[in-house]
Amino acid sequence: EQRQETHGVGENLVLVSNRQPYRHHYEGDGSDGDGGRSIAVDNPVGGLTAGLDPVMQRLDGTWVAWGDGEADFAVADEDDQVAVPPENPEYTLQRVRLSEDEVRGYYDGYANQALWPLCHTDTCRVRFEGDHWRHYREVNQRFADGVLEHAQGGGTVWFQDYHFALAPRMVKTAEPDAFLMHFYHIPWPAPDVFRICPQRTELLDGLLGNDLLGFHLPRYGTLFMECVEEFLPEATVDWGAGEVHYEDHVTTVRSFPLGVDADDIRQKSEDADGMFEARFRHEHGIGEDVTLALGVDRLDYTKGIPQRLEILEHLFETRPSLRGELTYVQKGCGTRERVPAYQRLRDRIEDEIDRLNERFGTDDWQPIVYTTKMYDHDALCGIYRFSDLALVSPLRDGMNLVAKEYVASQVDDDGVLLLSPLAGAYEELSDGALEFDPYDTAAGADAIERALEMDERERHSRMRTMRRRVHEADLPTWLDDVLETAGQVRATRLEGH
Ligand code: F6P
Repeated sequence: EQRQETHGVGENLVLVSNRQPYRHHYEGDGSDGDGGRSIAVDNPVGGLTAGLDPVMQRLDGTWVAWGDGEADFAVADEDDQVAVPPENPEYTLQRVRLSEDEVRGYYDGYANQALWPLCHTDTCRVRFEGDHWRHYREVNQRFADGVLEHAQGGGTVWFQDYHFALAPRMVKTAEPDAFLMHFYHIPWPAPDVFRICPQRTELLDGLLGNDLLGFHLPRYGTLFMECVEEFLPEATVDWGAGEVHYEDHVTTVRSFPLGVDADDIRQKSEDADGMFEARFRHEHGIGEDVTLALGVDRLDYTKGIPQRLEILEHLFETRPSLRGELTYVQKGCGTRERVPAYQRLRDRIEDEIDRLNERFGTDDWQPIVYTTKMYDHDALCGIYRFSDLALVSPLRDGMNLVAKEYVASQVDDDGVLLLSPLAGAYEELSDGALEFDPYDTAAGADAIERALEMDERERHSRMRTMRRRVHEADLPTWLDDVLETAGQVRATRLEGH
């Protein structure tokens, strides 16, 4: 059931994201006698592409994204376009083909070794390399060119995330009548951190090609405007209106906290029965009376996984009675694996888990279960539902949708969410979650103990408060809010002309 209105901005929308909503890939190797490989399609993991796909299906627009495999182009036409969804085409997916060097420079390099750590204020991990920047600029130009093929004579373009900080300026220069909007899915850093970036002026200039720039939290928008004031003296910030005036153009800066599809998650977790839980416990050797704590993360250094393991070690060390009683399941998902910092992190997490299991484990109990198995969303909602605790401990996170998914799946109101105050989601969930500070090991262990001892009344009351919030501020509401604001901003701009 679609709830979104398009508020006049949706027609012929061109959406731009690094990840594509559908990915084609080869299956089999022909060894079964059919003489060749067949092509299958799946949806890359990620709430964003899943959430925006239904909107695009209604709008009949174009989605421009990186096509990252041979099969993606084998099914596309000579312009690298393919109609999707494959079984019932509703809109065009325009795939952008990138060379190996471009991917290394733009994606592995500038996006994920410069901007990602910079925006998460992890300055020790930031790397600026000339080649990375050159590729980032070139790839932004490639995407801008792709957009311009579909946005002739105006139209609306919606950029997603930190991969495209330069493309808005490129598109605006070529097509001043296009309405450009951008949602930045990660935090924006303070001026003192952004200062270390040699390309700070170009990045700000690029983003200010947009008419509307959105962040998860008001705080990130404020930091962005502070950076503009400090590093782009030609620009003027109108703090009252939340606008930046720069080179005869106005960029409106707003916050839109991203939500999850709470109704869908509720339905999926309601469908997960006791058999599902029993199978999961059996599969991982977790006894039926053992309390289950869960962590679900991309294996990213911003998620605070080593810090969480340290807290668990302290917990089992200082509360020996919990040994045999509590198992922590870490579901990890490999990510950006060609970047050395991610490879090191993965090794470190796996070594630490082995060490803790060695230290505390017994013949019939393991303190930590580690799995990288890919569960589909239905199964994941089931796992969330029967997990007694969820441990979410990012060192910094734009929003963190795992926290919201866990809450939405608590149809029995029974679980406890332990949430880092450094996750954007904490702003909305602090009434019900227990604070879980990844930097304070002893306090983290206390929080887990408190969660384990919490009585049913308090658990239910906290969870109900959070569920209400997650349902009120869900994904369709977010989309509606973004599109309604865009409609208003666009109408104001048109009046001004
Ligand atoms: O949080 C930012 C983000 O780009 C998400 O939109 C996405 O789910 C995640 O990072 C995954 O990153 P990647 O596309 O690099 O695998």
